[in-house]
Amino acid sequence: MKVAKKAPAGEAYFGMGDKTCSANLRGHRVQNWNTDSFSYKKGQDPLYRSIPFYYATHDGVGYGIFFDNSFRTHFDFDSEQNGATSFWADGGEMDYYFLYGPALLDVARRYAWLTGRPELPPLWALGFHQCRWSYYPESRVMELAQEFREREIPCDAIYLDIDYMDGYRCFTWNKAHFPNPAGMIEKLRNQGFQTVVMIDPGIKVDPEYKVYQEGMKHNAFVYRSTGELMRGPVWPPDCVFPDYTRPDVREWWGGLYQGLYLEDGVSGFWNDMNEPAVFNVETKTMPETNIHHADEELGGTGTHARYHNVYGMQMIRATREGVMAVNPDKRPFVLSRANYIGGQRYGATWTGDNSANWEHLDMSVAMTLNLGLSGQPFAGPDIGGFAYNGDGELYARWMGFGTLMPFSRGHTAKGNIDKEPWSFTPEIEATCRRALERRYRLMPYIYTLFHESSVTGMPIARPTFFADPADPALRSEDDSFLLGSDLLVAVKATPEADRMTVRPAPVDGVEWAAFDFESFDGGRDSKDSDLPTLYIRPGAIIATAPVTQYFGDRPDSRDELTLIVHLDANGHAIGELYEDAGEGYGYLTGEYLKTTFEAHKDGEKVKISITSAEGRMEMPERTIKVRVID
Ligand code: GLC
Repeated sequence: MKVAKKAPAGEAYFGMGDKTCSANLRGHRVQNWNTDSFSYKKGQDPLYRSIPFYYATHDGVGYGIFFDNSFRTHFDFDSEQNGATSFWADGGEMDYYFLYGPALLDVARRYAWLTGRPELPPLWALGFHQCRWSYYPESRVMELAQEFREREIPCDAIYLDIDYMDGYRCFTWNKAHFPNPAGMIEKLRNQGFQTVVMIDPGIKVDPEYKVYQEGMKHNAFVYRSTGELMRGPVWPPDCVFPDYTRPDVREWWGGLYQGLYLEDGVSGFWNDMNEPAVFNVETKTMPETNIHHADEELGGTGTHARYHNVYGMQMIRATREGVMAVNPDKRPFVLSRANYIGGQRYGATWTGDNSANWEHLDMSVAMTLNLGLSGQPFAGPDIGGFAYNGDGELYARWMGFGTLMPFSRGHTAKGNIDKEPWSFTPEIEATCRRALERRYRLMPYIYTLFHESSVTGMPIARPTFFADPADPALRSEDDSFLLGSDLLVAVKATPEADRMTVRPAPVDGVEWAAFDFESFDGGRDSKDSDLPTLYIRPGAIIATAPVTQYFGDRPDSRDELTLIVHLDANGHAIGELYEDAGEGYGYLTGEYLKTTFEAHKDGEKVKISITSAEGRMEMPERTIKVRVID
């Protein structure tokens, strides 16, 4: 069965997860089938996630379509230019939701209401994450940590990719490289770093390995239709795969994290290869005829064709629930490569194995925006590109805006040169420091956006057309994005930085105003041509803080707040600031502070007042500086 709808001229389409074509999907045909896609190319489809949901917008009004079907689904956005969109699936039912706006933000809200909202992450997870495949042994990890702190380059998280394990056995350590994991993680924590480790779904077939033994005992793995255990090569290489569609398996899996989380002190978990990826087969995954014994809530026993696209989501669900169960007072951080609609409730995501070239830098903007529109706001690319080396200029430019994406992580593949902020030249190091200082300065604003997103499901990075949905010129603008509703980030996405970005039109004659952090650092920021230009919306107040090196670095950083104010045509501006402990769940019972600031022009002066303060947390005594941008 296939549904076809009219596609009026000028109607634009967005969403659908991590498509690489362009932010506006009109003219393309795409499909959903979670696929391991190392060094994918522009236009390659499908990739890692299945989000059978799109927004349509024309003349400033919008609606959404959510096709609730986990089989391989197909969407055609007028690719044959016959004025029609259509969608269909390889199995299952034609069960879809029409979500009327009329405003795009209303579509986002209704979609989030229906499919779930991301929870507020721990504040440290909003900082910068440094990764590579792989940092080892312990001395290398400690050296990395020391470089960040000595060079005063902000960073909150260090990642351990697959080589920390003992022969790719999940939930184990290579004791030759990491003789005392808990001790190392404690040392890192004392320097303000959280440790994130990888866990894959493929469990090594090894009768001596505890996780394999336990899984066999519970009969926890997926079977082929022939009744044999599904075995396939991944890293170890010979693997079996937990059937995460079963609640008992999810519970068992969740419990496996206890050692890493509680005893070793790991802060976050990175679930990778969960499409699930299988090496050396053309399909890159397990046979569609394999059997899953899902519980009734998910749909009961069914084939892999039915459950393939939700496999990764059920894995991170199990991970998150396991971590929550052992420490319910801490906010979990889980990062996933594969996902499905609703997966935003369990974890953040990144755009997978991109490449170190300009096309990928450019694509990473549209991909992150479409992920946000797909209900997955906590997203971003591997900054600097994962596959291949690239050069310093590419790295600097990518850091320039990658540090303003909701999920901000640098990563690179095995065999590549180091890609750390200081790996190239002193100038590039300085650019990276400025880019990261911008992020940490903007942290109060960014955290406020994450909170808003956890309540309403609103994207954090948004396409520029959200500023003015009625302006058709903005619908094809891929080189800039909005961080929240008040900040526009104009990316320099070509090597020559020669592509003009289309800015939203002035509001009642007042332009979105360019600003930088010049007055904070004596002009360094404004002269750095690798940084994106920042614009503030007329009528907005953005709260910023002093630079910190990591979350919790300087308790006194809350003593100072700088409000960046841009008055509208009536001489008025308004902004919100959400604050809480940055960790734990006290905020759900009132331990937070939501402050509304308003600015009014009064003759030659601008008066700032606090017009509302909500929540039980005490308002700190602090210096508030105000910078009015013309
Ligand atoms: C996959 C991941 C990548 C990781 C690598 C090794 O390719 O996408 O991020 O570094 O596996 O674990």
